[in-house]
Formats: sequence, C-alpha cells, structure tokens
Amino acid sequence: MSTLVTGSEVNPFLDPLRFDKRAPECLVVIFGASGDLTKRKLLPALYNLARDRRLSTGFAVLGISRTPLSDDDFRARMKDAVAQFSESGPLDTGVWEGFEQGLYYLPGNFADGEFYKLLAARLGEIATARGTSGNVLFYLSTQPSFYPAIVERLGEAGLDGKSGQGWQRVIIEKPFGEDLASARELNQRIHRVFDESEIYRIDHYLGKETVQNILAFRFANGIFEPLWNRRYIRQVQITAAESIGVEGRGVFYEEVGALRDMVQTHLLQVMATVAMEPPARFDAASTRDEKAKALRSIRPLRHDEVATRAVAGQYGPARLGGRDLAGYRQEAGVKPDSQIETYVAATFFVDNWRWAGVPFYLRTGKHLPKRVTEIAIHFASAPHSLFPEAAETAPNLMILRIQPEEGISLKFHSKQPGSGMQLRAVSMDFNYGSSFGVRSPSAYETLLLDAINGDATLYTRQDMVEASWAAVQPVMEVWKNTRFRFPNYPVGSWGPAEADEMLARNGHQWRTP
Ligand code: BG6
Repeated sequence: MSTLVTGSEVNPFLDPLRFDKRAPECLVVIFGASGDLTKRKLLPALYNLARDRRLSTGFAVLGISRTPLSDDDFRARMKDAVAQFSESGPLDTGVWEGFEQGLYYLPGNFADGEFYKLLAARLGEIATARGTSGNVLFYLSTQPSFYPAIVERLGEAGLDGKSGQGWQRVIIEKPFGEDLASARELNQRIHRVFDESEIYRIDHYLGKETVQNILAFRFANGIFEPLWNRRYIRQVQITAAESIGVEGRGVFYEEVGALRDMVQTHLLQVMATVAMEPPARFDAASTRDEKAKALRSIRPLRHDEVATRAVAGQYGPARLGGRDLAGYRQEAGVKPDSQIETYVAATFFVDNWRWAGVPFYLRTGKHLPKRVTEIAIHFASAPHSLFPEAAETAPNLMILRIQPEEGISLKFHSKQPGSGMQLRAVSMDFNYGSSFGVRSPSAYETLLLDAINGDATLYTRQDMVEASWAAVQPVMEVWKNTRFRFPNYPVGSWGPAEADEMLARNGHQWRTP
C-alpha cells in the first residue's frame, strides 16, 4: 500500500479535487539523463508531482548517461534544473530534501551489453533501499538511434516485465522512427521485448490540459457536436507557432526538420483529436481506436499534389528591434546550404462522412512573430445576408487556444450600438486561468503520472504512429528530391508567401493569432 511523500505541508497549488491520481511505488530510469529534456521537463515534472503529493514514498529516479557523475553531482545538477524550470514557484526546500534522497545516477555506455548487468544490480539495490516493489518505468530520452539496442539489451538482462517481480514499462520519446518503414521496424523490434501494453510512446501535446480539454469540450457538451462536421464547418486551421529558433539544437534539427519534429507528431495528434468520432468509453482502447481511425482517414497527398498542398520554409537572418538575428543556416551545427525546413504548412483532407471536403490547414514554424498554438474552426457563413449595410460579414470562428493563453473563444457578430444595423465581431471567452485559478500540471506531469499508473490513454499506439507517418510520407519523399530556395522567410515573420498562396487558392486566408 503506498503512502504519500510529505514535504512542506502548505501547498498553494494543490487542489485535491483536480489531481485525483496518485502513483503506486516505482523507480523511473531515465536513459539520457544528462540531456536537455531531463533537466527542462522530466525532473521538474517529477518534482512537481512530489510537491503535489502524487508520488508514493516508494519512489526513486535513476539517471543514466555517459557523463561521469556521482549521485550527489546528479542531485546538485537536478536541484538547479528544478529551481530554474519547474514553473511551480520557488523551490520548496522541504520537498526537495525528501525528493533528492530518491535520486540516483549510473554512468555508462548503454550500447554495451555488460552495462545492463550493472544496471540490473543497481535496480535491485534501489528497489530494496526505496521500496519500489520491482516496478520500473524506463524512459528513453537518448538519440533515437539507440532505442532498439537499449530495449533489446533490457530484454537480454531480463528487465522486460516477464520476471514476475513488479511491472516494467517503457516510455519512448519522439521521433518514433524517421519514416513509415523505420517506424514499423522499430515497433517490431520493441515488440520482441515488450508487449504493446507496456510501451508508452510519448507525444507531449496529448498531455497538455487544453488538448485534453478538446475531448471534454466536444463530448461533455450537447451543443457543439451537432455542428462539428462538414455541414457547418468550412475549414480548420491548426497553428503551432514558436517565437524561438532551434536554440542550440541545430545538429538535431538537421536530422529531423519541422515536418517530422512537429507535423507528423504534435499537429497530426491534435488534428486527430479534433476530427475523431466520439469514443464509446473514455478508456485507452476506445479513445485510441477512434484517434487511429481518424488518422487513417487522412488522405495521403499524391506526389503531384505536394507542390500545391505542402509548403516548406526556412528562416533567414533579420534585424529586429535593433538586434541582428541569425538565420537557420548560421546556427551552430547547421550546414551553410542546409535544405532542412524550419516551417511547414500543409493542407490535409479527412476522407470520411463527417469531414469530406473540409480542408485542415496545419502550420508550424520556428522564429515566427509569437509563441501561440491554437485551433481555429471556421464555420459556414449565414446562408443569406439580411444586413446589407453591415461592415462585418466574416464567418463565425471558434478558437481553441492551446497555449500560452489557454482557453476557448467564440467569435460572432453583434449589432453595434446606435441607429442602423452596423455589425461588429465580438468574442465570448473562456479563460482557463481565471476560471479555475489553479496551476495546470505540465504535460509531462500528466503523462508521467499516467504511465506510472498504467494508463496509456494519452499515449500513442503503434497504429496511430504508423498512420501519422503514412500521412506525411509522400511529402517527405517529394521534399527529399526538391531543391528549395531557402531561406524564404525572415526571422519574426509569419512564414513564406507560398503558405498564404496555398490557402488563397481555396479562397481562404490564415488567421493571424
Ligand atoms: C518538441 C519539439 O517536441 O516540441 C521542439 O522537438 C518544439 O522543436 C517543442 O520546440 C514545442 O513544444 P511546446 O510544448 O513548447 O509547444
């Protein structure tokens, strides 16, 4: 039976009704513990869970990477990281002191089979010391090329959930493969060791509160779903704009690009959440069945459609606010003639009865004017205009704001005060922060807690990952043989002109968030 970690007794962020999940005892093993994700996201998320008393006292973390560090070095580094990145206020030293006692570190080369004997021994010691009951959550946050080897070595070392001592699960960071064929192969290799029920493919967008809220919004209310189809919706725009560039990740980006980094993953998952049918129940199998069906209904572009339905962009240098900002090709680790895209816009159609003929426009880019992720649902206009003198005739819009100002707005027309019938667009707004007044857990908090609890609802399944690769595969194939005239948008702009032209051909235009 698990008891709860106690730290500081006063926690202004804790709302017991809001987070009703608590974790069983468990050891989280992070492969790639000296990397950015561990320090920016994973440890801050685990610390916040401890702070909110979501973790059992039988909890520990073992960091693994090549960097030689002692347990104490690791604890000191993670303390700095949590203080900097936890987003839950100043570090609570009471909570930290309890939490850090469960932090361990093991340096090693995870390509080497011998290392796993050491690992197995260390896992046994920690399980005894911390009372984690043999439950282990492996988190693979290394270079993706190491994933299959790590999983296979874990299997050889008997760390594959078959020992009967506790459970073993594995979280796999994106990118999951680099195309459809490699994703299939990776799935096969991992399945030789772990059962699908033990594999948690993470897409952190699915853990964002506002992405989860799309399901509540659609399926807990009676008034929106009747409109949620081709009869009333003319187009859907999904934007994930970032104001930052590649931020020192040039080497990684050169191998990945925005299509794989953002579209195949986050944007298609969000699109599936918007497009899916209501599941029979809110459980992992039913929810993921419907998302997989939606992803499989996305019509893959024909090669000859790619030029008009998909746009690649790369940011170039600009002078903004008196500062010279580097273009992508000037970033460290980037080739001076790089053909890698930092911006993508694409038009997809969902071939089913609900969505036939409705374009889903997706766009994402680095170094755009602001950080904003939103879904804009453009409804049909009124069938007949009764107010010829009205200046405003733009169709109704529903904006689901994923970040940073999380909420939902409905834009509609209203009569302006005064004589005559002048109309103006007004907005009905729901704002997460002011409505609930509590800190939303980060996506990684939600997802880690779910994996520890064995709930895979917000993780992607093999068929979902393969369907999303299938959707972008033709674009990757065509772009591989395309010579782009990059850079084609300056830092701080809304992307290349071709993205506007893509919509203009359908009589549409991008909303400026
Ligand atoms: C990651 C991508 O998955 O998502 C990054 O690799 C991107 O390139 C990040 O910056 C965006 O996530 P968020 O949560 O900040 O929108």
